[in-house]
Amino acid sequence: MGPASSPSPSVFSFKLNGKTVWVQGAATHRTLLDHLRELGFTGAKEGCAEGECGACTVALVKENSGGTEYRAVNSCLMLLPMAAGQEIYTVESLAEPRPLAGEGELHPVQQAIAERGGSQCGYCTPGFVMSLFAEYYRPGRRQHCDTTALGGNLCRCTGYRPIRDAALALGPAPADRFSRRLAEPAPALNEFAYSDGKACFSRPLSLAACLDTLHQEPNSRWIAGGTDLAVDLNLRGSTFARLVSLEGVPELRRWIETSDYVEIGAGLTLNEIGALWRNAPAAFREWLTLFASPLVRNRATLGGNLATASPIGDAAPLLLALDAEVRLAGADGERTIPLERFFIGYRKTVLAPGEILVSIRVPKPWPELMRFYKVSKRKLDDISTVAACLALNLNRAGRVSMARFAYGGVAEIPLRAYEAEQVIKGMPWSPGAVARAQEAVTARVRPISDHRGSAGYRLAMAKSLIEKFAFEIREQAA
Ligand SMILES: Cc1cc2nc3c(=O)[nH]c(=O)nc-3n(C[C@H](O)[C@H](O)[C@H](O)COP(=O)(O)OP(=O)(O)OC[C@H]3O[C@@H](n4cnc5c(N)ncnc54)[C@H](O)[C@@H]3O)c2cc1C
Ligand code: FES
Ligand code: FES
Repeated sequence: MGPASSPSPSVFSFKLNGKTVWVQGAATHRTLLDHLRELGFTGAKEGCAEGECGACTVALVKENSGGTEYRAVNSCLMLLPMAAGQEIYTVESLAEPRPLAGEGELHPVQQAIAERGGSQCGYCTPGFVMSLFAEYYRPGRRQHCDTTALGGNLCRCTGYRPIRDAALALGPAPADRFSRRLAEPAPALNEFAYSDGKACFSRPLSLAACLDTLHQEPNSRWIAGGTDLAVDLNLRGSTFARLVSLEGVPELRRWIETSDYVEIGAGLTLNEIGALWRNAPAAFREWLTLFASPLVRNRATLGGNLATASPIGDAAPLLLALDAEVRLAGADGERTIPLERFFIGYRKTVLAPGEILVSIRVPKPWPELMRFYKVSKRKLDDISTVAACLALNLNRAGRVSMARFAYGGVAEIPLRAYEAEQVIKGMPWSPGAVARAQEAVTARVRPISDHRGSAGYRLAMAKSLIEKFAFEIREQAA
């Protein structure tokens, strides 16, 4: 595959604060954050290098439902070549320059934070500003800024109230240069390849080209949003000789809805799915807000979450309870399998070398009663200790006609508790049925103890969530 817009495979460009920046000779595994700082854009800070603090937040210009938006992301989780062809804004671009005075006039977002005392040591401030900046210009925003947009930004010293006050005080965005930018299309990602002599990064623009690359270079590794792989690179020192980006592959970014199913492209980010799946079951919205932070959700893909096969990944319980299937493509063609057959061991899937997860198909109708629960140390922006998605249909007599109980964090793979589902079929949905289901769950799950929770705690949670589900259904019916 030849590079499209770069003169050689060791050069690429991106747009930074309105100007083209060429990259040559930088390490393939360098993060965008490190590069920005080396270029002198030191507003973005490194707090954690693993997507937890938001000090490194920058904004990308991206397409959204046919329009253009600013999308706040963690620059510590973007490898530098992922920036190729993208348009990026850092906090340095916000203030209006006043060259004669030698200083800038603060942007309304900066002004609001300054006026309300939303910054003390200032380490977190550029990150908050950039998340709020993206929210300030959110297309279609009618009211004050949504403070949940700041959910991926942590502050150690100011306290959050003044920052919230600033967000709530901001009115509509003016018709300034940033609003005008949104009237133009976002950049289309280009096909390109980059090598620093040790590691390569390529971005094909079709599924066939991806599979071809893997055929020629079998030791390549797919990278989608990079929110798992970049943490491996930054904190665990992993290196990858060849990364193949899925970000520009249209077949992985499709959204198809028919009367029988929705088919979700594996390369769509979680927030993109949130915007597209307007008639999703309510459990999907519960799930989405509990998944990481808005910053991570702006890059993390559904396919990446399933492919990691983490026993505590959050997508699997939701999709297992929705009876989803996955579509896989490889050199030998395509296959579709039920999601529960996708996971075959601790962090192992049925994906053959070079095979790619293309899409996830969710059949209709959705279950009538469904809840997603995440047990974690913090309510938001945390990894699950146990996750469960529980779904039921009841017939007119109030008896269980269909049950799906899906769990994460209770075995080495995410699983359906089939025995529990079967044992209550035909029973009235009553405390007796709950007790039978809990017994069957006890026999099915094999939790382990780790720093997040003991095996006993996990088992107790798996059982008590069924009770919680029953309670919430009763409340809903009352
Ligand atoms: C701060 C933070 C918070 C997080 N919180 C959560 C959370 O609450 N819940 C949760 O479940 N996870 C969480 N994660 C983990 C991570 O964000 C998710 O697993 C995410 O969905 C991974 O998607 P990605 O596109 O970034 O994957 P990547 O990092 O790009 O890839 C992950 C793996 O999947 C492979 N892969 C990617 N796409 C495909 C494909 N289409 N076909 C085949 N293989 C593929 C890659 O080769 C790699 O091995 C968190 C991560 C961070 C950094
Ligand atoms: S440095 Fe903490 S999220 Fe990037
Ligand atoms: S102002 Fe110090 S960390 Fe937020």
